[in-house]
Amino acid sequence: MKIDAKDLLFVALAGLVLAGVFFVSGEETTKRVPYDAAHRTTYDVLKKSGSRQEAERGCGTCHNETANPLPAGHPPENRCLFCHKIERAAR
Ligand code: HEC
Ligand code: HEC
Repeated sequence: MKIDAKDLLFVALAGLVLAGVFFVSGEETTKRVPYDAAHRTTYDVLKKSGSRQEAERGCGTCHNETANPLPAGHPPENRCLFCHKIERAAR
């Protein structure tokens, strides 16, 4: 099959729309990580390391099957901070 510029444009536009929908819905519906005592370490690590992946490592200590469990049907992904944004004020 021959791929011309029009096909590429279509793919690019479709991707943009999808990304926009994902971004908007995630931003509006998913709870932020609260800026409270329990999440103080999260914000400290984030500030010091500048790495969300580093900060995410601590989530499981408090959020697991026994303590503060994730709700049923929670997405199984491990990149917590992709969906649960940090509070803007704390940046
Ligand atoms: C020191 C323990 C601790 C750690 C570490 C921790 N949490 Fe929590 N988390 C809690 C507790 C306790 C609550 C419920 C009370 C509250 O809102 O603080 C909670 C609540 C939440 C909520 C729900 C907030 C709401 O509005 O209902 C989210 C989302 C959350 N945590 C995400 C995270 C993520 C993401 C991480 C890792 C980056 C994380 N937590 C690390 C203890 C912790
Ligand atoms: C793919 C997106 C996604 C990822 C990744 C993700 N979550 Fe969630 N999480 C959600 C959604 C959606 C909900 C339910 C709706 C809401 O919180 O507003 C939720 C709910 C929660 C709640 C309950 C909030 C409440 O009080 O109702 C906690 C706690 C939580 N997530 C913690 C975590 C932790 C910890 C991680 C990393 C191990 C994580 N999440 C990764 C999307 C995600």
